[in-house]
Amino acid sequence: MTRSGARVGPMTAHHTPTPHLDVDALLDDPRRRIIVCCGSGGVGKTTTAASLALRAAERGRRVVVLTIDPARRLAQSMGIDALDNVPRPVRGTTGALDAMMLDMKRTFDEVVESQATPEKAQQILSNPFYIAVSSSFAGTQEYMAMEKLGQLDKDARASGRWDLIVVDTPPSRSALDFLDAPERLSSFLDGKFMRLLLAPARGPARLMTAGFNMVTKAVTTIIGGQVLHDMQAFVSAFDTLFGGFRQRAQRTFELLQADGTSFLVVAAPEPDALREAAYFVERLSEEQMPLAGLVVNRASVDPEVGLSAAAAMSGYERLRDSSDDASRMAAGLLRLHADRKLAVERETRLRGRFATAHPDVATVVLPALPTDVHDLDGLRRIGALLSGDGAA
Ligand SMILES: Nc1ncnc2c1ncn2[C@@H]1O[C@H](COP(=O)(O)OP(=O)(O)OP(=O)(O)O)[C@@H](O)[C@H]1O
Ligand SMILES: [Mg+2]
Repeated sequence: MTRSGARVGPMTAHHTPTPHLDVDALLDDPRRRIIVCCGSGGVGKTTTAASLALRAAERGRRVVVLTIDPARRLAQSMGIDALDNVPRPVRGTTGALDAMMLDMKRTFDEVVESQATPEKAQQILSNPFYIAVSSSFAGTQEYMAMEKLGQLDKDARASGRWDLIVVDTPPSRSALDFLDAPERLSSFLDGKFMRLLLAPARGPARLMTAGFNMVTKAVTTIIGGQVLHDMQAFVSAFDTLFGGFRQRAQRTFELLQADGTSFLVVAAPEPDALREAAYFVERLSEEQMPLAGLVVNRASVDPEVGLSAAAAMSGYERLRDSSDDASRMAAGLLRLHADRKLAVERETRLRGRFATAHPDVATVVLPALPTDVHDLDGLRRIGALLSGDGAA
């Protein structure tokens, strides 16, 4: 039940029973060390991650939450608007909660610094091509989110400071980007194109074939000689780090497959978002990554008045052209009621379809709140709703 006493639509459609996701059991399980919130753009990943982290902390766990691009007001209320790339205690809660916002570029720099000699690191960090790649290459954010998760996990094990890490994922169009990006980035970094560019910087003269010269010439024409020079310098400085990068990505992938890890897929009750969620669920199972369940966020709230959409619609049509104000007002309300009922029915059908295709995926439905979630009270409320806690 929501605060208003209304209920979101039924969890099942037709005959498919949907297992219910028990969020508190997930948060309280001491074997659970990592929770990753995934989903396509704008569905509520950051909100879910922050809400779960706060709730877990207030239920007694020692939690760190890694957020990515949180809305400004939310970041302010959690005290993480200063981008220093380390977790800070969240004020305003009695729970042990640390939070941070990912600084992609800083994380990339830290990796370079930890992998190369100081001199080489400096050479890389000041290279204009590196600066461009580290702050804008598609997939860097996903890679660095994984990198940071790896660091936090190491830190948690070494210091015992946290027993649960909650991870938000970047605002990609597709949830799959999170899993694909590390591979894409490492193939880019040690891929053919880079090798080709690198060749003149270190290769023997016989490699300077006519074909290669043509490529170099084309690249030089398109992007300019200085950029090409920067890229070559970057690649040769970066060369020794390729192995390191791959290894780290591999280790984080293993961490994502570990028993203590759970993925939560967040989706809006819309065809595209649920289709994305379905792809993601399938991919997780291919990668043997453990799925905790699905959060259907921003569901329409069922008005729970015994009046069907059709009846409300016909009442609306009868009253909308009335001469008196009260009837026209009633017509307006009937129209709202009809629209809401139809939305609930449509979403229920969509969830039913998902459940038929993926009957084992435990699900929880989170209603749309009337306002954005931008402070700790809002996060608490979302956490309570996710857990089916009556106090919400
Ligand atoms: N159940 C809800 N009710 C009301 N507002 C919500 C709810 N869930 C999320 N929001 C709001 O929707 C907006 C988007 O949510 P959020 O930032 O969590 O999505 P996201 O998946 O992290 O987006 P992105 O892909 O851009 O990172 C925010 O303003 C948030 O406050
Ligand atoms: Mg987000």
